[in-house]
Amino acid sequence: MHADLADELKVKFAKLLEKGLFSGGEEVDALEKTMREYLNVPHAIPCANGTDALELALRALEIGPDDEVIVPALTWVSTAEVVSMVGAKVVFCDVDGHGLMDLLQLPSLLTARTRAIIPVHLYGKMVNMERLLKLTVNTGIHVIEDAAQAFGAVQRGRSAGTYGAIGCFSFYPTKNLGALGEAGLLVVQDAALAEKLRLLLNHGQSRRDRHEIVGRNGRVDTLQAAFLNVKFPYFEAWQQKRKGLAKSYLDHLQHLKGITVPSSIVEEDHNAHLFTIQTVQRDALKAYLAEKGIGTAVHYPLPVTAMRAFKVNKEFPVASRLSNLTLSLPLHPYLHEDDVRRVCEEVQRFFQ
Ligand SMILES: Cc1ncc(COP(=O)(O)O)c(C=O)c1O
Repeated sequence: MHADLADELKVKFAKLLEKGLFSGGEEVDALEKTMREYLNVPHAIPCANGTDALELALRALEIGPDDEVIVPALTWVSTAEVVSMVGAKVVFCDVDGHGLMDLLQLPSLLTARTRAIIPVHLYGKMVNMERLLKLTVNTGIHVIEDAAQAFGAVQRGRSAGTYGAIGCFSFYPTKNLGALGEAGLLVVQDAALAEKLRLLLNHGQSRRDRHEIVGRNGRVDTLQAAFLNVKFPYFEAWQQKRKGLAKSYLDHLQHLKGITVPSSIVEEDHNAHLFTIQTVQRDALKAYLAEKGIGTAVHYPLPVTAMRAFKVNKEFPVASRLSNLTLSLPLHPYLHEDDVRRVCEEVQRFFQ
């Protein structure tokens, strides 16, 4: 990908070097406009990374000590980490068979202290947002979407990140749209909340040297914004490629005994970020594929609830089971059909 885009990226870097503009500026404004239009949301605010987006969202909603925030037991650690960072209590919800927050268990976790719920669109598959929002109607509980893995996913005509009060994205290099370093995005429906987020991520400054509230530096790096502006025009084509490859995986693997495939990956509420299969022979399959030169990854080997930093004395059976079963096969827009066929042949050979 970066070999293909190298010339464009270098030209962009050279221009910024010449201008000497490395914070804020028109590249950040352009990224903001692109995101607002693409996601069809009133306010899009680029920021330093996806973790910051989540933490700033909690701060903007004034969530802190004595508050409870519900997050799924299986996710990238950021989702839980930010809740602890603002001093609130993390309440874990088990996940369903797809690895998404279990909406049947969720109501039993709501208490008088629940201030927010952070659903995670894990692997790029969206949580059923209409169902989730029904559970919070008239409760005053905020929904913050962790859409870090779901850029480009759409449910009932609405983009991931645009259902909740605030949506948080990551442009970490391995994401479907990735920077050449760290970057993130906040999307917001409400103008006052958007204004507060802009203040929070810029030292509380309304204008130079006027600090209205306590904030910090959570701004996006201008260079990263510029690189994202170079890459965005290719995004839809990359998505089509990902979807095509994901479909090939399904065609080859869906009838194979011994594995469960992510059959909904071709639907529009999945952005085909990861092609994650489930098998009880996960570790042996991973080792076998590695021997054949095929790289795979485990998302994630431990539920957050089993990590030392968050350990809780409660069972999360589905999250635990999935962390033992899941394996992500190679999927990115620069793979070829032949590569996918070869991976599938090796997977088939393993099970035979
Ligand atoms: C589900 C989830 N949440 C949050 C993040 C945090 O994003 P970042 O790495 O940009 O801080 C990531 C990505 O790493 C993620 O996958």
